[in-house]
Amino acid sequence: MLETAVNRSVTFGQTEMTPSFRMDLRKYNQKEYEKFVKVNTVNDWSQVSWKNIGKPYEVTSFSKEKTEWEKEHGEMLPVHTSWTMFNKSFHEWFTKDVPAEMDAKKRDFFYSLKSFKPSEIKAALGDYARIHLWNYAHRIQDGIWDPRGKRALFEGLDVLKPRILFLGAAEGYEAMQLSAMYPGGEVVLVDYDPFCRDERFGEFPDSYPFLGRNPSTGGDKVYYKNDFNISYVVDDIRNLPFGHEFDIVLSVGLLEHFPDSMKAEVVEWHRKFLKPGGYIVMTTPRAQLRSKLYYEIMADVMNHTYRELMTLEQMGLYLYENGLDIMKHGYIKVHNGIVAKAK
Ligand SMILES: C[S@@+](CC[C@H](N)C(=O)[O-])C[C@H]1O[C@@H](n2cnc3c(N)ncnc32)[C@H](O)[C@@H]1O
Repeated sequence: MLETAVNRSVTFGQTEMTPSFRMDLRKYNQKEYEKFVKVNTVNDWSQVSWKNIGKPYEVTSFSKEKTEWEKEHGEMLPVHTSWTMFNKSFHEWFTKDVPAEMDAKKRDFFYSLKSFKPSEIKAALGDYARIHLWNYAHRIQDGIWDPRGKRALFEGLDVLKPRILFLGAAEGYEAMQLSAMYPGGEVVLVDYDPFCRDERFGEFPDSYPFLGRNPSTGGDKVYYKNDFNISYVVDDIRNLPFGHEFDIVLSVGLLEHFPDSMKAEVVEWHRKFLKPGGYIVMTTPRAQLRSKLYYEIMADVMNHTYRELMTLEQMGLYLYENGLDIMKHGYIKVHNGIVAKAK
């Protein structure tokens, strides 16, 4: 495995932008850590109440694909279909040649001006704004994958060669990051949209480097997708045959897609597969102004399903009141993260 890292000639501390994404093997220095990561800001979860912190912000602008489907069929878009639409649409953005597309959208915009048609100009301007926002959020800031932030949230778990279960795994990014930090175990990715296994995970770049731990030296090591022991289950989380057998049960961007009447059930999905003493690791997007704007501008790409944006306190209270012991909580660039155990 070391050979793979050497062959691909990456160096520790390196960061580089490819046309579609950033790879980042840097560690935060103290100043960057303080700017981008805040952990354990709540002293006593029993003192946090809904009355004090309010309920999450609900995103109410939806994609054209969803609204047109509902108009045509005269009913609400079924949840499973909404995820298939979301995954296809989101994946297209991860695979874009962003610099080439920024040039193309700029040309399209100037061309649209010649039409003197406000609707064409508005559409071209929207496309131009979206590709620039994507470039900033995903390629420059690396806010979606955010490997340095995720490593900061995931560090400190007391596990050896863990079995990791990722619920609603999509491309599986965070389970691969965890498996690099805690190597030698096994990863089970679960998503009921087969597109996630075949395209989102299937086409996840083999060359993307995950910074993790070398168990033989205790130092750093770079891992790639094909170094991990991963299986992909295409099924509904509610049908899984597993018992209490995983050291870590993980979800990223799942809880906020369920209204309050279902939050307890979603927490239970995590607890029911945990070994005694195992860790639940969950993240959800933050309720911050820039995220609200992001979901507004990217509505056609992202908003096919029910979605809330919550604060760290709101996320923590959902877990606390549903019987989890919060071991670590914090927020990184665009997500809140919590590491918990079952009480
Ligand atoms: C918002 S995505 C997670 C965010 C992800 N990191 C991404 O980049 O898209 C949630 C995923 O959970 C899956 N999902 C939702 N409900 C599910 C269920 N009941 N069983 C299995 N998968 C589910 C969806 O298909 C989707 O891929």
